[in-house]
Amino acid sequence: MQITINNHQYEANQGDRLLDVARVNHEHIGYFCGGNSICQTCYVKVLEGAELLSALSEEEKAILSENLIKAGTRMACLTTVEKPGTIRVVSAVEEVRNLLETNPLGLGSYAAVMGWEALVKVPDTLRLQAGREFDLWQLLTDVIGGIGDAWKLVFSAFCGCSSSGEKNAATVC
Ligand code: FES
Repeated sequence: MQITINNHQYEANQGDRLLDVARVNHEHIGYFCGGNSICQTCYVKVLEGAELLSALSEEEKAILSENLIKAGTRMACLTTVEKPGTIRVVSAVEEVRNLLETNPLGLGSYAAVMGWEALVKVPDTLRLQAGREFDLWQLLTDVIGGIGDAWKLVFSAFCGCSSSGEKNAATVC
């Protein structure tokens, strides 16, 4: 089945996490915690095909505000592809990038809204994280991998390379 992330189409299998589809294809979705549902940088807005994805989990309900849920926001590390069909999502990272290019002054209000929506869920989020058990070594490995991948994406964005590392013809890195 196919899934469109930030206007790029990728192959996905049933059961794949949105985060993993993005990650193997070097697509812009944040995942500083390496997919351990801690960092909250992996927000995506589902534009089409919400019914084809896994149901909203208790973790997502604890972390995402009602407004974000109503807007179709999911956490890519907690959402899996369940049924074939057309799925289109845009990541929060991509939304920020688009704003930066088209309306940089709008970044302030975007950050304020997202900050507020995170703030109202702080108590629930803290309760959720406090009740979890982590494999610290695995977590450390995932975080280092997530940060490394993030820096590669930032580098490729700045040097004009495509997400797969190919240079644009007109760009010199
Ligand atoms: S919360 Fe960190 S990757 Fe989803």
